Amino acid sequence: MGNERLDKIIASSGLSTRSEVKNLIKKGLVKVNGTVVTNSAIKFDCDKDDIVVDGKPLKKGKFVYIMLNKPKGVVSATNDNRDLTVVDILPDELKRKNLFPAGRLDKDTVGFCLITDDGDFAHNILAPNHHVTKTYIAELDKEIDFEKGKKAFFDGVVLNDGTVLLSADLEKQENGTIPTYKVVIKEGKYHQVKKMFLSLGATVTELKRIKIGNLSLDENLKEGEARFLTEAELSKITEKTQNIV
Ligand code: URA
Repeated sequence: MGNERLDKIIASSGLSTRSEVKNLIKKGLVKVNGTVVTNSAIKFDCDKDDIVVDGKPLKKGKFVYIMLNKPKGVVSATNDNRDLTVVDILPDELKRKNLFPAGRLDKDTVGFCLITDDGDFAHNILAPNHHVTKTYIAELDKEIDFEKGKKAFFDGVVLNDGTVLLSADLEKQENGTIPTYKVVIKEGKYHQVKKMFLSLGATVTELKRIKIGNLSLDENLKEGEARFLTEAELSKITEKTQNIV
């Protein structure tokens, strides 16, 4: 990988955010080849140099996990002939080989898109039988019958092709005069949330994913911005929740 700044190497391992890493380095908690280094800007080679953070050797060759606040107009793919992809718009310091989005958001959906190079992890969070929830905020073109909708989502919406969806949760949200709902689903079928509301007679006009498992989209990330997840955040994605639907 060549030489890179010490703070970048450590943050890229997903251990902590770049600013937390800078603090660790400043506090003298990072050793390289046995010597304390307090200057984040010094460059090292993560493959050759021996980096120890707070007494623990930095894991080498680890996978990366990125939270992107996806804007509208980009597609959830690695390459596309026509449109910009979620991987194209990542800043250079986050880019790696083999990155792909773990799950698809529609081109016009915004919010939490998880990008990784870890195929097993992606499979784990996407497999419907693993029940990792995805939470969305949906704005609708018209009001629905909430009680009827809640029951239909809980019972499992039946799509036009006969597919029965897994149980989902529906909650009303305050948003002025725009009918707005929070939806929690456990799978990721094509246009799933839009189809679920269509089955209640309403069209989704805006859709945002705000949470995967127990990990919420970082409110400080503006649309189009991305950052590595820390290990603590990563485990929130797969931790078991009490109120799973
Ligand atoms: N459901 C949808 O309809 N679209 C998305 O992008 C995600 C879930």
